[in-house]
Amino acid sequence: MKRKLIIDCDPGQDDCINLFMALPHTDLYDILGITVVAGNVSLEKVSRNARMICEMSNRFDIPVYEGCDSPFDVPLVTAEEVHSDEGLEGIEVFEPEIKAQDKHAVDFIIDTLMAAESGEITLIPTGPLTNIASAIEKEPLIIDKISEIVMMGGALREGGNVTPSAEFNIFVDPKAAQIVFSSKCKITVFGLDVTHQVLSSFEVLERIGTIENKVAQSAYNLLTCYGRYDAEKYGNDGAPLHDPCTMAYILKPDLFEFNTRNISLFSS
Ligand code: RIB
Ligand code: CA
Repeated sequence: MKRKLIIDCDPGQDDCINLFMALPHTDLYDILGITVVAGNVSLEKVSRNARMICEMSNRFDIPVYEGCDSPFDVPLVTAEEVHSDEGLEGIEVFEPEIKAQDKHAVDFIIDTLMAAESGEITLIPTGPLTNIASAIEKEPLIIDKISEIVMMGGALREGGNVTPSAEFNIFVDPKAAQIVFSSKCKITVFGLDVTHQVLSSFEVLERIGTIENKVAQSAYNLLTCYGRYDAEKYGNDGAPLHDPCTMAYILKPDLFEFNTRNISLFSS
């Protein structure tokens, strides 16, 4: 049976690359929906950006659901300094034809999981975990329905990228992270220790730049901008592909080796 995916994201440049990777493979899995959550930029902008990316990828068939516009119990912290005010530095933003669904993302996640057999659906969160945690809190029965949560977030030895210990997705909504990590779901986590090894080197970028289509040219422009921030901050040769590690795992799991770990959360 084809794998079924729900991608929960906050596009955001690397979320965008992750969606560009996910959207073409209609033969490998079914994307049941894209849910968006406030994170890199506001809910309104992540919604527009997700719908733009679906349109650019000619995936008018995928429903986009708007979720939570703020974290559980702290003010929203966004990342315009990394992704620009519109969230997709490198791409000219436009108002897409695709409109957001009326249903709230949390209700879509709950209803879709409850209607499915256990183990059918994989959740792929690449932003703060507010939507996922809200769904678990509202309907705990979904926990046994979820096949796997494949997420980008956190850090082990690498330290944080917002504070010395906190990675952005966890920092924005630590309570949501606590709820998800306490849920007993199978969770495959791509933290900064992994994603900082996955760099879109400028040599690879040049190769992407030679591909003459809209998505490749957009990816080239995005990653060129995204790379500058990390090059200045970490001296990297290229942008770390944080969120695209999740779809790389779905598409080619053997690219990665995993350790089983206990998770503890520090809010500082
Ligand atoms: O720390 C990196 C994560 O924070 C990525 O998901 C990026 O898009 C931002 O959301
Ligand atoms: Ca993200």
